[in-house]
Amino acid sequence: MDINIAKKELKEKGFLDIEVSPTLDLFAEIEKLKKEKNIVLLAHYYQEPDIQDVADYIGDSLGLAQQAAKTDADIIVFAGVHFMAETAKILNPTKKVLLPDLNAGCSLADSAPEKLFKAFKAKYPNHVVVTYINCSAEIKALSDYICTSSNAEKIIESIPKEQPIIFAPDRNLGAFLMKKTGRDMVLWNGSCQVHEIFSLEKITKLKIRHPKAQFIAHPECEEAVLEIADFIGSTSQLLKYTEQNEATEFIVATETGILHKMQQISPDKTFIPAPPNNACACNDCPYMKLNTLEKLYTCMEYELPEITIEEDLRLAALKPIERMMEISKATGLIK
Ligand code: 13P
Ligand code: SF4
Repeated sequence: MDINIAKKELKEKGFLDIEVSPTLDLFAEIEKLKKEKNIVLLAHYYQEPDIQDVADYIGDSLGLAQQAAKTDADIIVFAGVHFMAETAKILNPTKKVLLPDLNAGCSLADSAPEKLFKAFKAKYPNHVVVTYINCSAEIKALSDYICTSSNAEKIIESIPKEQPIIFAPDRNLGAFLMKKTGRDMVLWNGSCQVHEIFSLEKITKLKIRHPKAQFIAHPECEEAVLEIADFIGSTSQLLKYTEQNEATEFIVATETGILHKMQQISPDKTFIPAPPNNACACNDCPYMKLNTLEKLYTCMEYELPEITIEEDLRLAALKPIERMMEISKATGLIK
């Protein structure tokens, strides 16, 4: 879909001017709409706490893709960013897939434009392409395997050792995987603006002030930050670690939204967001945080904005996603 045309259409329909009465009980209205319209509401861990609490399923990118693949709802509302809703549509061509705000993009997905990526790929004709799910449908269609941070290691290990690999678009996750798997991959030079913002100096000082705290980080963080981490994992792996580890204090280097679930699951533990390298709240993802309860409500009520995808592109993007799902099932990562 052409996002600019879709945004223009929303404007012409007056959708962007709809005002929600502040007296409306949004939690109750959202629950009502879910039942009336057979809607499933999927939310990423980086969503604001109210949205997480009203969602039918909260998860990381792999968990959400799996839920999207098996839902029998008529409508999928995706409280996340565009590439996530687009993945849900690729998996569910006959269902209506809605994203509360079409501006909810992703700096990492944007770092791999189709034209440049095609030219890059052409330089390595004997390589297979493993791509992180944080990318557009066009980039997925140019890939052999999709992966998420939960299954990337297993996906790479499933590829024969002598087969050269291009890994895209996240250079930090790629470098981390090279160390973990011992594979020498060609990396695309993309990154996530949220995970690159952490200050090594401030984290080091925080660790000194909290000597018993575990420092945990997402693999999209820079190598120097990952080097001092006690544990590295996807959002769901970080969550599980805080639940199972006996430490009572954790310094968390990923988007701040995950702290809500960590605190809900372990109310007696303390969670400290890792500090960014300036005074802003830059470890809040500006795209994820575009979604609000009001936007969620209008999206469900008016069934807009809808994610669409051209069938040829959908089929080409589906293949590497299906390969990811098969490997994840075969290696026991998902059922
Ligand atoms: P995971 O959901 O795989 O942990 O990835 C984090 C992320 O940055 C999603 O945009
Ligand atoms: Fe993209 Fe980073 Fe935001 Fe995730 S946290 S959606 S990778 S910009």
